[in-house]
Order: sequence, then structure tokens, then C-alpha cells
Amino acid sequence: LLQRRGLVLFEPGTVTAENFTTFAGFLGTFFHYAGPHTPRAPENPDATMIDSSRDNRLRNHIWHADGGFREDAPAFTALFGKVIPQGGGDTMFASAAHVYDMLDPLFAQYLESLTVVQSPDATGHITERYLDPEEAAQARLKMPPFEMPLVRVHPASGRKWVAVNESYACYIKGVSRVHSQNILGILFDMIKSPEATCRIEWREGALAVWDNRVVQHRAVKDYAPGTARILYRCTMTA
Ligand code: SIN
Repeated sequence: LLQRRGLVLFEPGTVTAENFTTFAGFLGTFFHYAGPHTPRAPENPDATMIDSSRDNRLRNHIWHADGGFREDAPAFTALFGKVIPQGGGDTMFASAAHVYDMLDPLFAQYLESLTVVQSPDATGHITERYLDPEEAAQARLKMPPFEMPLVRVHPASGRKWVAVNESYACYIKGVSRVHSQNILGILFDMIKSPEATCRIEWREGALAVWDNRVVQHRAVKDYAPGTARILYRCTMTA
């Protein structure tokens, strides 16, 4: 189902904050890449917390794939609604495989010849979030920029997808800055188009699981500042 649909949602009550990672763990091996601003959940060591009330430097409202700056980015993500604001705080999802399917075939063929450079600091993820300069330097050493094909092929379904997101794509290799920016701009626009996206309104206890290779996501930051919005997350390799 995940391969076909990309995103699967479960009603509140299907799992709990304590056991959703056991359920998600059936998909693969846990991939822990928590940073200093995504601490472990107190009652569930396999989950990290995205807590808006503790961290006003969260960058979850920019389109991304979890760990999408790494060659070995997690294959799956599971997100559990722990504390949900009265209004707002939805999550949006986009299928980068659907974006590939929407491309003009000649443009798709051209994109398949391109290489993109990705970095966790492409839009300041490290600079903004690691307050200690020594920690930031270590993070940059641990997660250097890397090159990958702009169009990738899903290892299980064989579907192609455009492997760029607004958070981590730096530039397209071997073309001018303007050329690179314009192509990335076209793809980013397609990724956020109504055709490629859906939006979920959280309820406490709900669970979303997605194929993090082809599905990107972002939080909608329309809740009042200081409002508690806590999601528990775990990521898995295939
Ligand atoms: C995330 O970025 O992994 C979580 C998305 C959200 O906060 O809605």
C-alpha cells in the first residue's frame, strides 16, 4: 500500500505513543538521526519529538524529505499526533513520483541527465539549528554535501521521482546558477501544486506513515506562537 499510495493514515486509537514505533518497526530498521533540537520522546526511546513549544527554530515548515540530504536517507517515516493545537498545525505531503509523472516527456528525459548537489545546510539547516559553533562544525563534517541523480528510481516499485526538495537541494551541477535556479523553481512549484499534494488535519493519537523517498512533507505553521504542537517521529531504513 505504501509503495502504491506513498502515504497511509491510521485513525486515533490504532496505536499509542508508546507502541507506534513497534508497529512502524515492521517496515525496517530504525534510523536514528536526531539532532540537538529533536530529543528522544520520554516514553518511547525509538521516537524523537517535534515540539513547537520548546523550539521556535524548527524548520519543519519548509518542504523536505526526512534526512533528504543524505544518500542513505530513511525509506519510511512514521509521525504520531501527541499534542495537537486547537486550530492549525496540519501537515502537507507531496508525491515527487507524481511530479515526475506530470512532466513533459522531453523535459523528463533532460532532467534524467542531471546531477544535483544536496546539503543539510543548503538553506541553513545546520547554521540555524546548531547554536554551538563547534557542534555546527562537527555536523558539517559529518554530513558533507553530496551529488546524486536528479531523477531517481524507486528500488521496490520501479517508479521514478524527482529527488529535490526546497530544504536540501543546493544546485544542479554543471549548469549556470540561473539555469539551475529556474529548473529547481519549476520542480518546487510542481511539488507544491494541488495535483501533487494533500493535507492532513491532525487529531491526537492519529498516525501517518509514508515512503520518505518519494513523499515530501512540511508543517503548516498557522497556529498561535507558543502553542504546544507535539508530534513523535521515527524513521526507518528499508
Ligand atoms: C517533520 O518535519 O518531520 C514533521 C512534520 C510536521 O511537523 O508536521
